[in-house]
Amino acid sequence: MPTNITQVVEMQRLHIHILNKIAESLALKGVMQMSAKIIIGTQFGDEGKGKIIDCLAEDSDIIARFQGGNNAGHTIVVGDETFKLHLIPSGVLHKNKTIVIGNGVVVDVKILNAEIESIEKRGHKIGNLKIAGNAHAIMPWHKAIDNHEEKLRTKKIGTTGRGIGPAYMFKAGRTNAIRMYDFKDEKRLAKIITETIEKNKDYFRRINYTCTETDLIREYTAISKKIKPYICDTSILLNKALDNNKKVLFEGAQGTFLDIDHGTFPFVTSSNTVSSAACAGTGIGPKRITEVLGVVKAYTTRVGEGPFPTEQENKTGERLRKEGHEFGTTTGRPRRCGWLDLVMLNYAKNLNSLTGIVITKLDVLSGLDTIKVCTTYRTGKNETEIYPLDLPDLKEAKPVYKELPGWTEDITVVKNYEQLPQNAKDYLKFISERLSLPVKFISVGPKRSQTIMM
Ligand code: GDP
Ligand code: IMO
Ligand code: MG
Repeated sequence: MPTNITQVVEMQRLHIHILNKIAESLALKGVMQMSAKIIIGTQFGDEGKGKIIDCLAEDSDIIARFQGGNNAGHTIVVGDETFKLHLIPSGVLHKNKTIVIGNGVVVDVKILNAEIESIEKRGHKIGNLKIAGNAHAIMPWHKAIDNHEEKLRTKKIGTTGRGIGPAYMFKAGRTNAIRMYDFKDEKRLAKIITETIEKNKDYFRRINYTCTETDLIREYTAISKKIKPYICDTSILLNKALDNNKKVLFEGAQGTFLDIDHGTFPFVTSSNTVSSAACAGTGIGPKRITEVLGVVKAYTTRVGEGPFPTEQENKTGERLRKEGHEFGTTTGRPRRCGWLDLVMLNYAKNLNSLTGIVITKLDVLSGLDTIKVCTTYRTGKNETEIYPLDLPDLKEAKPVYKELPGWTEDITVVKNYEQLPQNAKDYLKFISERLSLPVKFISVGPKRSQTIMM
């Protein structure tokens, strides 16, 4: 019988390992296929999802985005080249993959078109791209409303200004919303544009949004011709693929604590970013999901406003920003930096049904004498492991830290777990044990080759 927590965790690991082996062998015999993996951010976004999805895409058939829009910025480094993707799924740089923009995504077709052109210009063919006909479009007025609303706010959210919130507002409002299917019918598209401008002309004038209807129709009709071939029912496509034992990777954008329901509302984005959104956002059922991997940056960052208990507005924060190159991929804003927060991560584990974690940017911690990890919050006289969802409680929460010894070695060249310094191993072990989750991959640099598989 196990006598302490380490032994319990080791036994759990062994059980998971045995179950995985059974599942793998069944898959090889064609009895069962481990086929639908969701990869999501467990913090405030920018955990390094793009890199991990690119790595896992190699062994997948389909890579599908399911929420958000071009507020996302997913960085992939291939050889000497860096790609910053905002809408196109992060499997695009592999040959012979199907890449899907699911119905839960809000699509700025101008950005999409520019992104397709830019990737192709760099010599990568956009293979089999499919866009859900029932995904909604971000139009120029959404961006104008986004920026206007942000200006009016006394407490800023710090949105990316990409029109994300208003596009989801129009979708939920069900008036003057434009879906990808509308781009397949030029007359229908022109009619909605005309109606929207007509109905909102006073409002648009008030927020200083000016446009010429004919120019807009001409511009969007031209784009519609380019994107039309990609538009289809992606739910049917994904369900059929899963029926045929294809391997599908669901690519999350943003992070758990930017979720519209479960995040630090109102300092959140306008979509559900948790793993269950992968189902609604692509049109598959929850029973399909076989694995949910949470990407965990080895420390925490946040762009934009909102509570951040472990934030370090001091030399430590500056050091993490400098060493981790923590500047927004989409807006270039400096990211706020702080220590890892296990209270948040334990909450994220439940919200997402995580089956494992991927630790990224471990290399950024090299050279620190001591690494702090928040294990509980103190509120008044109480200490709690439970994440407070109500904003005033969260603002009051003071992190309680466990201090772990750092390491000095450069780990960016480390190829396997055994080669890691003992203190780095202990750091990983501490996180894994406190979350009771296995670490599946460790990332020690932005390149594909700087990834350790456990
Ligand atoms: P995403 O939005 O979650 O895909 O993350 P971003 O691409 O916005 O930000 C992550 C940044 O860290 C990018 O510049 C990546 O190239 C970089 N990155 C990813 N993994 C690692 C890592 O393990 N170490 C280092 N040093 N950089 C990494
Ligand atoms: P990836 O996918 C980090 C933040 C914005 C702002 C808030 C609301 O690269 O991890 P929005 O424009 O969505 O209405 O802004 O959410 N935000 C992100 N922060 N990474 C992202 O995406 C983000 N997408 C939105 O900074 O605070
Ligand atoms: Mg990003």
